[in-house]
Amino acid sequence: MSRKAFFRAGWVLMTLAAVGVALLWMTVGGARRIFLIGETTAAHHQIELACESCHTAPVFAAAATAEQALNKACRNCHEDELAEADDSHPRKMFRNPRMAVYWDKLDARLCTTCHA
Ligand code: HEC
Ligand code: HEC
Ligand code: HEC
Repeated sequence: MSRKAFFRAGWVLMTLAAVGVALLWMTVGGARRIFLIGETTAAHHQIELACESCHTAPVFAAAATAEQALNKACRNCHEDELAEADDSHPRKMFRNPRMAVYWDKLDARLCTTCHA
């Protein structure tokens, strides 16, 4: 094995090891806070470290699947209170295909369009 190939193989192995450690860290618990994309709203602070209460899709799920699952989690916890709120712009209104022209501008079928 040439010197170059040796270092390249070492580099690949070290990268894989680092990814492995990061994945373990995320799944086993540990310091998951460093993976958060920003500050969690005060109301969700208590569940912030229970990532899978919102990110319910399986690991390596497609982006669209993950987004659907995330939004379903919002509804699971908040549906009753939204129903009570007498919302004049409920989600079902925007799911109507006649609303499709608006989805590009502001997709109100998704909670995360506004509550990110
Ligand atoms: C209260 C619900 C909630 C909890 C709990 C939560 N997240 Fe999120 N997360 C969100 C929302 C909402 C977004 C933004 C999604 C969007 O803009 O489409 C997001 C986005 C992300 C993203 C960016 C990638 C993506 O899918 O958009 C990462 C990475 C992430 N969260 C990691 C974490 C980690 C790690 C934890 C636990 C330490 C965590 N989150 C806990 C709601 C949550
Ligand atoms: C595990 C249950 C749970 C999940 C999942 C969850 N929430 Fe909440 N959320 C709460 C609780 C508890 C509160 C505080 C009490 C309340 O206002 O109902 C809260 C408060 C809120 C508030 C009002 C206060 C604030 O922080 O602005 C909004 C808006 C909100 N959630 C939106 C969302 C959205 C959007 C999602 C999905 C990304 C989501 N929630 C996921 C439990 C949850
Ligand atoms: C088009 C933007 C938009 C979308 C989409 C949206 N919301 Fe909201 N939401 C708002 C705004 C703006 C308020 C504040 C309304 C007010 O204070 O009267 C709010 C208020 C709330 C509250 C009450 C917050 C409080 O302080 O009590 C909850 C809970 C909530 N939204 C959850 C959701 C969930 C769950 C979804 C998805 C099913 C969703 N929202 C979709 C814009 C949106």
